Amino acid sequence: MSSSTSDSKLNVVVTGGAGYVGSVCAARLLESGHQVTVVDDLSTGHRDAVPSGATFVEGDVAEVADSLLADGYDGVLHFAGKSLVGESMQVPDKYWHGNVVTTLRLLDAMRRHRTPRLVFSSTAATYGEPATIPITEAAATNPTNTYGATKLAVDHLISSYATAHGLAAVSLRYFNVAGAYGQFGERHTSETHLIPIVLQVAAGQRDQVQIFGGDYPTPDGTAIRDYIHVVDLADAHEAALLRATAGQHRIYNLGNGTGFSVKQVIETCRAVTGHEIPAVVASRRAGDPAVLVSSSERAQAELGWTPRLADLANIVSDAWKFTQEHTAR
Ligand code: UFG
Repeated sequence: MSSSTSDSKLNVVVTGGAGYVGSVCAARLLESGHQVTVVDDLSTGHRDAVPSGATFVEGDVAEVADSLLADGYDGVLHFAGKSLVGESMQVPDKYWHGNVVTTLRLLDAMRRHRTPRLVFSSTAATYGEPATIPITEAAATNPTNTYGATKLAVDHLISSYATAHGLAAVSLRYFNVAGAYGQFGERHTSETHLIPIVLQVAAGQRDQVQIFGGDYPTPDGTAIRDYIHVVDLADAHEAALLRATAGQHRIYNLGNGTGFSVKQVIETCRAVTGHEIPAVVASRRAGDPAVLVSSSERAQAELGWTPRLADLANIVSDAWKFTQEHTAR
């Protein structure tokens, strides 16, 4: 029995809602009038990133899902998980447990309590080294790291539960998420992502940025990625939640369909911040493909979603405001 007030206003659980993408999504869902309960063990998330207006349950999803879902929810948006590629190669058990075992427990609890909808945070890392660009959902899935392998395993899990048990499920495969939404942004304890690192140099928290590889087969020799604003990404989650269909597991890539090189990103950060941002070319990072650019045609056609904040300077500008506020603290 669901506790929603109308067809379009849902009562949902957001796992990982104290993290970067989860907190932005929780905030946007609340603004749209949905009821949100955030579950997060705060292992990488921050208590003050849980939007006011959300109910907060501190705990491990695998442990709390069963008792929580017994209260009756319309759906779960599952962001909680482990997401560092390098770490996944060093400590794979953390990724198989944290991503696969935890999601299996969540799915079993959803099945037991008849929670009808699931939106899952998947990743472009499920594809591995692409044979063609842009990457469509029909591309082969050959992950090159444990992180991508665990996320792909979860996608398979979800497919079989949707078919067998009537779950309405959507996996969203993110490309490079960036930007911020007011007080909600990216603040990892040990940052590995390009845009926050470059902005930390601009803010004086680092001396320089290392460009991982200057000899890729790209126009300027540096790797190309598809950067998507976290607000556009969050809005695709709401569309996916509302359009999910019982018994089906749909998969959508989320990107802007445009690639920017590492050098182009650094140039944009220089223009937005007005800081010099010293950069040096270093060796390639293991496992990094040369080019990852998404086709978002399926998401646009079937979710009725269009990225509205695709301009890289806007994305960087929102991230820069967030960096400055958090540096000043
Ligand atoms: N890079 C640098 N210097 C840095 C950090 C990154 O040159 O200090 C380069 C990387 O080598 C890469 C690009 O900047 O070419 C982007 O790197 P990120 O670490 O920001 O992002 P990734 O493309 O490696 O990974 C992101 C997500 C993954 C996801 C992947 C799929 O973090 O979870 O996109 O596209 F799997």
